[in-house]
Amino acid sequence: MAAEPINVNEFQELARQELPKMFYDFYAGGAEDQHTLKENVEAFRRIMFQPRILVDVSRVDLSTTVLGYKISAPIMIAPTAMHKLAHPHGEIATARAAAACNTIMILSFSSTCSIEEVAASCNAVRFFQLYVYKRRDISATLVQRAERNGYKAIVLTADCPRLGRREADIKNKMIVPPLKNLEGLLPNKVISVSDGGSNLEAYANETFDASLCWEDIGWLKSITNLPILIKGILTREDAMKAVDVGVAGIIVSNHGARQLDYTPATISVLEEVVHAVGGRVPVLFDGGVRRGTDVFKALALGAQAILVGRPVIFGLAAKGEHGVRQVIEMLKNELELTMALSGCPSLNYITRSHVKTEHETP
Ligand code: FNR
Repeated sequence: MAAEPINVNEFQELARQELPKMFYDFYAGGAEDQHTLKENVEAFRRIMFQPRILVDVSRVDLSTTVLGYKISAPIMIAPTAMHKLAHPHGEIATARAAAACNTIMILSFSSTCSIEEVAASCNAVRFFQLYVYKRRDISATLVQRAERNGYKAIVLTADCPRLGRREADIKNKMIVPPLKNLEGLLPNKVISVSDGGSNLEAYANETFDASLCWEDIGWLKSITNLPILIKGILTREDAMKAVDVGVAGIIVSNHGARQLDYTPATISVLEEVVHAVGGRVPVLFDGGVRRGTDVFKALALGAQAILVGRPVIFGLAAKGEHGVRQVIEMLKNELELTMALSGCPSLNYITRSHVKTEHETP
């Protein structure tokens, strides 16, 4: 039997062994040259710690709140598509792991278990991630189903007017499986297979509304009472616009480097966004988090909490619900150790001066 994985990278290797190549590549890959994919991870390595000593860290408290919901650690589950390609229990397994770890799961619009199935399967705090379709009525229906089923926020993913060019999926002829939330809503012909190749791009480009713009946040607010977060912010300009249109929070994200290649690593733009927001709404963060040290670095640069995408899928692919729990617990344990070794008994001890970015390092 293979040795037990002891960190996220080892889970990735297990997932690689476990999954058909087409699915592993879909999960692990990024856009075009995958430059941003590497950078999202590498940029964390250029940030160094400035730990404090002789602080009482005999107890370390990781707990925090996001939109008023108490969670055990500032580590949430990012919305990622199609979990049944990783494990037969799909998003239900992921949601149960979120509940067991006492954290928040953001369910992807493009899930393989439905909004209702996930809600019925666990008592985790859940947010719902939204893509806006050309057929606005379909998106509105899903928002209303999420609200009725106890989801606590809508996460509007705004970096996807078209699908990024993911060359592995094109080569592997990756096909979109049935998307449970859309059953009966999307005519089959919308997902037309192009030339016997991958239908991912055709699916997204035929359905996603590329005309979506800032004015449409008003429309979204008019169809739901839930708080709205915008995911996909990378600049101070967009951060300020998001605050101006009255969102409840923003998520700094480059979609795990799957959209526009050569966007900067998200960790390298986090601080600029945090300054622009000036504490008016919470700033969440994702992209490249693979270690508890990464979580600490993002918090020191101003994130309220981070989300993990691929690490959760790797856990799911390797060992189902248990694997997702292990991945989250590993990151929590690593964060706890990082805090102890940095002189931070709770999250509010973590400050900007606990880290040095590459520009500050002599
Ligand atoms: C994603 N992401 C994503 N985002 C979103 O808003 N809706 C979605 O359906 C998906 N689907 C998806 C599938 C896969 C396979 C991946 C890897 C990512 C992006 C996701 O929410 C998040 O931004 C990144 O995954 C964060 O980067 P890491 O943690 O994967 O490095």
